[in-house]
Amino acid sequence: MISESKRVDEMNYFELIAWLGIGSSHPGGFPATKQNLEVIAVQPEEYVLDAGCGSGLTACFLAKTVGCKILGVDINPHMIEKARLRAEKEGVTHLVEFRVADVNKLPFSDNHFDIIICESITVFLDKEKVYREFYRVLKPKGRIADLEMVILRDLPPQVRYQMEDCFGSSTNPLSFEEWMKVVAQAGFEEIEIINPQPLKNNSNVVFNELKKDWVLVKDLTTKIRRQPALLPRLQKNANFIKKNRSYYGFGLVYGLKPLPKKLGFKDWIRSRIMGRKL
Ligand SMILES: C[S@@+](CC[C@H](N)C(=O)[O-])C[C@H]1O[C@@H](n2cnc3c(N)ncnc32)[C@H](O)[C@@H]1O
Repeated sequence: MISESKRVDEMNYFELIAWLGIGSSHPGGFPATKQNLEVIAVQPEEYVLDAGCGSGLTACFLAKTVGCKILGVDINPHMIEKARLRAEKEGVTHLVEFRVADVNKLPFSDNHFDIIICESITVFLDKEKVYREFYRVLKPKGRIADLEMVILRDLPPQVRYQMEDCFGSSTNPLSFEEWMKVVAQAGFEEIEIINPQPLKNNSNVVFNELKKDWVLVKDLTTKIRRQPALLPRLQKNANFIKKNRSYYGFGLVYGLKPLPKKLGFKDWIRSRIMGRKL
C-alpha cells in the first residue's frame, strides 16, 4: 500500500500525482492521447515503451485496443504499483509489464523497441540526455512520439516563477521549433509536430475523462477529507493554467530513428585505423 504519512504541502508535483494516481497527467488529458494514437497507428506486432508511464492508463488502453506488447517505466514506485493494479483490473497483464526505471539510464539493450510513447515527462528533464537514451533503445526505423507542453511565446519571469512553483523547478517547456531541434540533435529524422494545439479551456472534458478513471475516483473524496490542503493545491495549479493558458500549447513531437548509414570507403578505413565505430 502507498504510504500516506507525507503531508500534501510536503509533496513535490510528481509525488502528488503519484499519490492521487492521476491517469492522464498531461496537456489535453486522455482525449489528446486518443487523438494522437489514431495518427501514429501502433501496430499489433510493435513493441512499445511507455516512458514515464504514470499510472498506466495509456499503456493499458493501447494493450486493449491494439493488442501490442508494452513495457511501461516510471521512476516513482507508487505509480508503478498503481499501473500494475490497473493492468490486473483491466485484464491486460499478458500484454503489459510495468517496471521502476529512470529514463535517463534505461535498463535495456540498444535497438530494443519499435516505438517510444512519452507523455509530459521530458518537459521536466534534461531533454538532450533523455532523447539520446530514447534513440539508443529504439530499433532503426523506430519512432519517438512525445506529447509535451510547449510555449507559444516567451514567459515573463513572474509566469515562469509561478509555473515552477506549481509544477516544480525543473519544468521547462520549449517552443515547437526548439522541441524539433533537440530531437534532431539526438539523431532523429523526419521530425514533425502532430496535432499541435493551443491549451484550451476544456477542463470539463478532461475532468469528465478523469472521473471515468477508477484509479483516481476510488479514493479522491477520502483523500480530500483527510488532507484539507489537497483541494487548494489542486485549485492553485488549475488556476495557474486558466490564467496563463495563452502562453501555452501542446503537441506530439514525432521522429524516426534512421537506418544505420552505410560507410563510405574512406570512413571504413578511418574506423579500422581508429578502432571505433562511426
Ligand atoms: C506529469 S507525469 C505524466 C505521467 C503519464 N505519462 C501521464 O501522462 O499520465 C510525469 C511522470 O514522469 C515520471 N518521471 C519523472 N522523472 C522520471 C525519470 N527520470 N524516469 C522515469 N520516469 C520519470 C513521474 O514519476 C511521473 O509519473
